[in-house]
Amino acid sequence: MNQIIKTSDGSHTIYVPEIDEHYHSVHGAVQESTVIFINSGFDFCKADPISILEVGFGTGLNALLTAIKSIEGTREVNYTSIENYPLDNKTISSLNYNEFAGENGREIFHLIHLSPWNTRVNICKNFNLHKMEADFTKEKLPGKYDLIYFDAFGPDKQPEMWTRKMFSGISDVTNKKGILVTYSAKGEVKRSLKACGFEVTLLPGPPGKRQMIRAVKI
Ligand SMILES: C[S@@+](CC[C@H](N)C(=O)[O-])C[C@H]1O[C@@H](n2cnc3c(N)ncnc32)[C@H](O)[C@@H]1O
Repeated sequence: MNQIIKTSDGSHTIYVPEIDEHYHSVHGAVQESTVIFINSGFDFCKADPISILEVGFGTGLNALLTAIKSIEGTREVNYTSIENYPLDNKTISSLNYNEFAGENGREIFHLIHLSPWNTRVNICKNFNLHKMEADFTKEKLPGKYDLIYFDAFGPDKQPEMWTRKMFSGISDVTNKKGILVTYSAKGEVKRSLKACGFEVTLLPGPPGKRQMIRAVKI
């Protein structure tokens, strides 16, 4: 059964005993999401409006941090997130992310989770959310994207999410000059991204992670 644990920056994550895996880094969940997806992805990508695809909606933390950034800025954000195993309400309401998301954090987190699946919903100023309940390994991805948050469980735990075929599917829906960010810096992931038309750069990762990948579609 899933367990909620506190990470080093005080924010929660979820531990899944069946696969011995966490949803985020135990060195800081909010810190990890901020460094990888917000600082290295959202802030780096200049598309306006911006279309984002997230693989692995999970707790909605990346969606929350992106929504907060959207309110602070002016560009419209269209955020699609795919998730095959939505968390139950009791787990979601136990998470403490509102403590890390400023004055609007609580309400936006609530709206993100209250929004129905499989339809596009306006959550707040500049932020539209489409949560897709589907299996990433089987679903044909809709739309075209400027930025990909690739946040599946690790390649050693869920190798089927990280295959060349999966990255080829991602490449097909990524706009030219579009960006993919992920916490993994594995050689095989780099090679697959290159084979699928991305230029790969290694960046310093968040605490506890030496490197991460940012890839640009060429
Ligand atoms: C590392 S966690 C994602 C963390 C998330 N981005 C967050 O901010 O909390 C990986 C997620 O991928 C989901 N997942 C696993 N297999 C999947 C599949 N075949 N299709 C879509 N999502 C999947 C898991 O249920 C989990 O929520």
